[in-house]
Amino acid sequence: MGVLHLLLLTLSLATISTAHNITEILSPFPEYSQYNTYLSQTKLSDEINSRDTITVLVLNNAAISIFATKQSPLSVIKTVLSLHVLLDYFDAAKLHQISAGTAMSTTLYQTTGDAQGHLGFVNITVLKGGKVGFCSAAAPSGSAPNSTYVKEVKKIPYHISVVEISEPILAPGILDAPSGSALNISALLETAGCKSFAALIEETGVLKIYQTAASKGLTVFAPSDGAFKAQHVPDLSLLKNAELVSLLQYHALARYAPKGTLKTTKGPIDTMATNGVGKYDLTVTTAGDEVTLGTGYTSSRIASIVIDSTPVVIYTVDSLLLPMELYGRAPAGSPATSPSQSPSTSPSQSPSPVVSANAPSPVIAAAPSVLSPPAPPSESPNGSPDGAPVGSPAQAEDSKSGSAVVGVKAPALFKAVLTVSVAVIVSVFLS
Ligand SMILES: *[C@@H]1O[C@H](CO)[C@@H](O)[C@H](O)[C@H]1NC(C)=O
Ligand SMILES: *[C@@H]1O[C@H](CO)[C@@H](O)[C@H](O)[C@H]1NC(C)=O
Ligand SMILES: *[C@@H]1O[C@H](CO)[C@@H](O)[C@H](O)[C@H]1NC(C)=O
Ligand SMILES: *[C@@H]1O[C@H](CO)[C@@H](O)[C@H](O)[C@H]1NC(C)=O
Repeated sequence: MGVLHLLLLTLSLATISTAHNITEILSPFPEYSQYNTYLSQTKLSDEINSRDTITVLVLNNAAISIFATKQSPLSVIKTVLSLHVLLDYFDAAKLHQISAGTAMSTTLYQTTGDAQGHLGFVNITVLKGGKVGFCSAAAPSGSAPNSTYVKEVKKIPYHISVVEISEPILAPGILDAPSGSALNISALLETAGCKSFAALIEETGVLKIYQTAASKGLTVFAPSDGAFKAQHVPDLSLLKNAELVSLLQYHALARYAPKGTLKTTKGPIDTMATNGVGKYDLTVTTAGDEVTLGTGYTSSRIASIVIDSTPVVIYTVDSLLLPMELYGRAPAGSPATSPSQSPSTSPSQSPSPVVSANAPSPVIAAAPSVLSPPAPPSESPNGSPDGAPVGSPAQAEDSKSGSAVVGVKAPALFKAVLTVSVAVIVSVFLS
């Protein structure tokens, strides 16, 4: 039981983000300015900030000029630099005291799933004379490390260590990776099991809008073919053409948002459908490595990454993202505003009730249900989105059922309170 307690408490505390900001740490050092710029452009900075216990091996502007010389695309730079982020804490003392003289460390590159064999690992070796060398664990064994320890730049003990090294650590073939500039979005979507979505964006011309954005930054949340066949999926043919275009644009952002960036996102985000009239925004909630998108009306988990090639990232999602602007127009005096409805709505302790804080009275009305004893832990977090009134727009307007609470957004504070109170109540049950 004690272990479970600890686990639950750790889980609830894990949502409190760590304090370091690599961009800020490096900004007083002009000699690392290019490295810092690359971290921001590739969004590796978000990935670094979202992790605790990490070591960043930095290169000075001269050492990193190899990318400019080779005209490496950002996707390649991202791969190489992700090999310079070790998922362990190594300060100068620890580096120089490596037992047995050598250690193999996992890097951020390993977490992308693209690294074959030992490509995602770096070997750290204490060399003759006490120098510390770094090389790709995939280099021919016995080869002399090209890169050596220079100095400590900054450390926040056992959280983040920033250490300068002399040369880039290059895994075999890593600089020759193909450039992602000529991505065929339809082909990628089709192979990823998103044929229906691929067909829709092609028919409506939204694909062209995506392609235009792709050179500057594009994120696509593509619903799988299964998502279109799911129960309660509204009949998209009931939408006017402009509405369908908005719905499809709602599934994309006009900027590069890899998973690390989504995880550090706070507050609602604009989509490509966002315009003066409708907000068409999305909320992002993170639990461990799982990221869930909320529309205020429905929610969907990010299922997989089809491609992450800076500045384009394409994900698959389990369900269609149905915007409030098209599906969530609850009639005036909507049931969610009536406190008497609260008891029936309280079971949905799902991640979906995450609507905008500026939703009017429903937020207050929802409060009693949020603070009432939460549902048993066995309650499936996915129950509510499926049970949501996602029939047709017309059906949505009619909805007077308790599940309309899905359209009510609890501010972040409530979510935090909720997470902690669920953990506490569960641990009380267990003791
Ligand atoms: C980190 O610092 C930079 C520069 O000061 C700032 O622009 C950025 O918003 C910060 N990031 C976070 C997550 O606070
Ligand atoms: C890296 O370390 C591993 C484990 O110690 C070893 O098997 C491998 O040969 C090393 N690679 C290089 C290039 O030294
Ligand atoms: C060291 O650099 C040379 C040339 O730049 C390269 O061929 C070799 O593979 C590198 N060695 C290691 C261990 O990375
Ligand atoms: C992209 O892929 C689709 C489907 O595989 C194909 O029909 C189309 O011709 C390709 N487009 C380009 C520009 O290669």
